[in-house]
Amino acid sequence: MTANAKIKIINIVGARPNFMKIAPLMRAFAASERIEPLLVHTGQHYDERMSDLFFKQLNIPEPDINLGVGSGSHAVQTAEVMKRFEPVVLEHKPDAVLVVGDVNSTIACALVAKKLGAKVIHVEAGLRSFDRSMPEEINRVLTDAISDLLLVSEQSGLDNLKREGVDDGKVFLVGNVMIDTLEANRQRAAESDVLERLGVAAGEFGLVTMHRPANVDDPEILKTLLDVLNEFTDRVKLVWPVHPRSQKNMERFGLAEKVAGDGWITPEPLAYLDFLKLMDSAAVCLTDSGGIQEETTILGTPCITLRENTERPATIDAGTNVIVGRDPAKIRAAFEKAMANKAHTPARPPLWDGAAAERIAELLVEQLG
Ligand code: UD1
Repeated sequence: MTANAKIKIINIVGARPNFMKIAPLMRAFAASERIEPLLVHTGQHYDERMSDLFFKQLNIPEPDINLGVGSGSHAVQTAEVMKRFEPVVLEHKPDAVLVVGDVNSTIACALVAKKLGAKVIHVEAGLRSFDRSMPEEINRVLTDAISDLLLVSEQSGLDNLKREGVDDGKVFLVGNVMIDTLEANRQRAAESDVLERLGVAAGEFGLVTMHRPANVDDPEILKTLLDVLNEFTDRVKLVWPVHPRSQKNMERFGLAEKVAGDGWITPEPLAYLDFLKLMDSAAVCLTDSGGIQEETTILGTPCITLRENTERPATIDAGTNVIVGRDPAKIRAAFEKAMANKAHTPARPPLWDGAAAERIAELLVEQLG
């Protein structure tokens, strides 16, 4: 590259949790004189409510290319992204391909880029649940193994990569781009009328999200979880914007009636600003999401994580998040504790300050320029 040539970076989004991570990066790259960003949407998520709404609300530019991959088994989806992404890399010859998070689109595009000689940048590198039954953990480990720059959001990421023997010179603690988006949108979210629309009052409802295969693909496990959540509905309303995977499974397993009672409000998936307002206003969040564990840490909303582990231990250290798995006794105990905690104390892990994307833009110019 000549001294003043721009650094061409293809940025990848595919699934819902990628959108809030890429939004601040596209903004920071567009503002940099040294970076020429392109945006590729793999199409892993494609519904209006799982994708388009996020582009609109977060002012993400229209993707330069949409691969239109859609749903499929892991092998089909990953392979399809790879097949369709390879000609894009060949045509555009980027200096680097930037991937975020841990979804199938992340590993698929990283693998294509690396084999064609482009540098791979992984944002949110180093997180580990140490649970290799989770597809995301496989995606994380493999993406990190072939990345040239590993950009880390929390201390555990540095520790994990060191233990795995990754060269220090490739690893940088940059903070959390998802929190950039939260901070940039807090004011706008405060103005959302979602509480009125759903008929709930601040502090008087629990916010539920469940979509992990380990929780919603097995009828017995899903039934157990729904039964214990139902115990709470005489104390609080439960708001659950239902993910399409969970909706399909509840219908298939004959469990839809479990969330049909008065205590439940089950809208379709919500847009970012409405969801942020709900997280900020809830008495408690019960979730199997990764990102919600981080967002509730900044907001101070007690978070009960319906998983056996977390790849985001900074949220546990912060005191806002607790891991309960699928054990009804642990879920009940955590719920009681959360309901008794009216104070909601926010916490802020190092560099979760709203400026991670700018730091990343500067770092990439330094490293790749
Ligand atoms: C994917 C990610 C997961 C992330 C989640 C957030 C992987 C391995 N998993 O899981 O880490 O937490 O996104 O949502 O990449 N569907 C629709 N409309 C859509 C998208 C999906 O109806 O726009 C339905 C389809 O029936 C599909 C199912 O949801 O089969 C699951 O979608 P998929 O992308 O395979 O995985 P997620 O469960 O969404």
